[in-house]
Amino acid sequence: MGERIYLNNGWQFTEAFKEQMITGDFAGMELTDVRLPHTVKELPFHYFSEKEYQMLSGYVKRIDAKKEWEGKVILLTFEGAAHDAVVYLNGEKVAEHHNGYTAFSVDISENLKYGEENLIIVKLDSREELNVPPFGFVIDYLTYGGLYRDVYLTVNEQSYIKDVFISTRLAERYFEINEGSDEGEKRSARCKSSKTLTRIEFVGAGLDFALRQWLRKKGETEWDKLGEVPTAPVETGSSEMIFQAGDVELWDVDNPALYEVKTELLDGNGNVMDENITTIGFRKAGFKKNGFYLNGRKLKIRGLNRHQSYAYTGYAMPDSMQIFDADILKNELGLNAVRTSHYPQKQSFIDRCDELGLLVFTEFPGWQHIGDDAWKEQAADNLREMIIQYRNHPSIILWGVRINESVDDEVFYDRTNKLAHMFDPTRQTGGVRCYKKGIFQEDVFTYNDFSHEGKKKGVLKKSEVTPDMDRPYLVTEYNGHMYPCKSFDWEEHRMEHAKRHANVLDEVAKQENISGSFGWCMFDYNTHKDFGSGDRICYHGVMDMFRNPKQAAFVYASQQDQIPVLELSSSMDIGEHPGCNRGDILLYTNADSVKMYKNDEFICEFSASSSPYKHLAHGPIPVDDYIGDLLEIKEEMPHDQAEAVKALLNEVARVGLYGMSKAMYVKAGRLMLQYHMKMTDATDLYNRYIGDWGGASTSYRFEAIKDGNVVKTIVKSPMTKAHLSVSVSHTELKEVNTYDVAAVRFRLVDENDNILPFANDPVTIKAEGDIELIGPSVISLQGGMFGCYVKSTGKPGSGKLTLTTQNGQTEEVSFTVEV
Ligand code: GAL
Repeated sequence: MGERIYLNNGWQFTEAFKEQMITGDFAGMELTDVRLPHTVKELPFHYFSEKEYQMLSGYVKRIDAKKEWEGKVILLTFEGAAHDAVVYLNGEKVAEHHNGYTAFSVDISENLKYGEENLIIVKLDSREELNVPPFGFVIDYLTYGGLYRDVYLTVNEQSYIKDVFISTRLAERYFEINEGSDEGEKRSARCKSSKTLTRIEFVGAGLDFALRQWLRKKGETEWDKLGEVPTAPVETGSSEMIFQAGDVELWDVDNPALYEVKTELLDGNGNVMDENITTIGFRKAGFKKNGFYLNGRKLKIRGLNRHQSYAYTGYAMPDSMQIFDADILKNELGLNAVRTSHYPQKQSFIDRCDELGLLVFTEFPGWQHIGDDAWKEQAADNLREMIIQYRNHPSIILWGVRINESVDDEVFYDRTNKLAHMFDPTRQTGGVRCYKKGIFQEDVFTYNDFSHEGKKKGVLKKSEVTPDMDRPYLVTEYNGHMYPCKSFDWEEHRMEHAKRHANVLDEVAKQENISGSFGWCMFDYNTHKDFGSGDRICYHGVMDMFRNPKQAAFVYASQQDQIPVLELSSSMDIGEHPGCNRGDILLYTNADSVKMYKNDEFICEFSASSSPYKHLAHGPIPVDDYIGDLLEIKEEMPHDQAEAVKALLNEVARVGLYGMSKAMYVKAGRLMLQYHMKMTDATDLYNRYIGDWGGASTSYRFEAIKDGNVVKTIVKSPMTKAHLSVSVSHTELKEVNTYDVAAVRFRLVDENDNILPFANDPVTIKAEGDIELIGPSVISLQGGMFGCYVKSTGKPGSGKLTLTTQNGQTEEVSFTVEV
């Protein structure tokens, strides 16, 4: 495929499209200079109307077509135009596209004026009355408008490769697995006998030509020849070829080995007329009736749903921010999968999933509603585009071919299933539903199981949901609206949110025949008036909108073994709880055990095996003992008595005197009789060991122990000084195809780095130099946290971001900008 020229810079924009624009008449119009990715409307953080981004807008771009391009094939590609685009070139309509979530290309060779300036106009409709998916009824997310992905030209010779689809075949009996014996070493695997299968589409090849392919491991320089074949003598068409690729490293979640295949189109003399490089991975992935298998190994899918939205700019964010999200999912949250709810997402996001070994379930656009025949026709088109554009990604393991949570429609879904299998015979299909049973037309029964409400078990059994036990089953959503949680909710609410995620994960892990699950969802998102908390936010995330973690995030983060995790559900302030009773307190950790010290005195060690979450690698551990052996050591109580008194006091700490069960009261009575204790003795002990009231300040220290070493420590003691703690995605901004953006996350913390969850303080944000701030310059922390984005301006140099708290504390972040 020919040279690619990005056209992301130098656009002009108007919120009110006028027909006169088509012919280049801008009289009386106000145009703003913009760069892509672009959102038609920057929005507030919350409390706004979704009407704001619904408009018929216009984009203007002037391009110089080089004289030497004459006679070549010039394609103009839009990667994402939300939602209905009509493209005009030099006054002529050249394309229209009716889907905001897939790319489209148009051959403009005939319309270009070579050696001259050409005018591109895009009429873009982002109104939700459009009769295309996902529109037609209510939708629980915003559908922001804009040219929000890349736009580029491709300059091809007359003969060129139009599309390449490569899949791999692996002989499972030749798998060689290395499970990684040393600590930190990851699983890697090879296959001694592999093949590549290529479907190639070409244009204008001439009557005498051949195809040749080469393979190399990504990052290497030398190519190994796969083979060469003559092709049927047709001008334009498609061809298939199969080559032995031999001994290859497998793509896996732990070791995402990537390869590149170079496909060449040769003329009769063996000259290369065009070439294409496709990144692939050799892997065998599939859902079976008892679970998901990757390279012959059963793997429980543990993922979250991701929307492609950001505060203020909606869908419009460059590659670095897509990559940032994938990195968070894999590295911060320790997941092995993501569902791109409810549409295909930016290629750079999926590219990063390929690189990270993050499995992807991607689906065609839609939400609950199925429209009329024209709407369905468009949906079928969207599906075709999705599969053709994304099918080379090794990370994608399943296609969603049913409008998310829509009712059965046998004819429509027969069509989408068949289409998916036709365009990609290598992958299975799923169709996400919120109804049990029903007509099961896809390969995998994919169900949003919202049955957990805190008390019932985490998920239903497969047999309660699917109509066919002999076929695979996957849970595609849980929690979400069942328990919204804000980062500034009270402590017990935040813990309950985390606990529900643990409850579901544990039950999914237990049920052998569930392939895995995707929680709802990665982060809070702006939504329509019909959903969310009335401020146009659905607080369903395990992170907030800036990707700051809530407690639930640590349930996920602690399931991996790469980075030590230790978090406590409580600030250890009893006054945060009704009756000053602590309630349940959980440790989120991947350590072997956690030692607790009170005022530097060792109390006890909580072992990972005491977690009630028996099916998780690292389930949350309850903090249920504030006394340890101290009654024996300090009060010289006999062991049995000490144990009985301890149980009683710990129970009182949890639920209070009046919350104790009848059985506990009876036990208490017996205890007093047996050991001749008085009520005042018990109160005394309680105040000394648990009460924490009025005495010198109490400090708790928790140490995570792994293989005998302290790997992480947290200290909870009364705070005296708050300061901002800032973390930045990257400080070296780099303009490659367009502007770059860095995500800045900040938290108000105490001297021990504990977040101050009830701090709603204002923070002023100032950007200086060659950077710009996205969003307001004064914000209020939410749950002690917030964020902002910093953008490059097209100028090389440097910039400084200054955050100032109401107390005058400042934090500075320096950026460099490379253009
Ligand atoms: C599901 C839906 C998601 C989201 C979620 C909230 O029904 O598929 O898009 O709305 O509920 O819990």
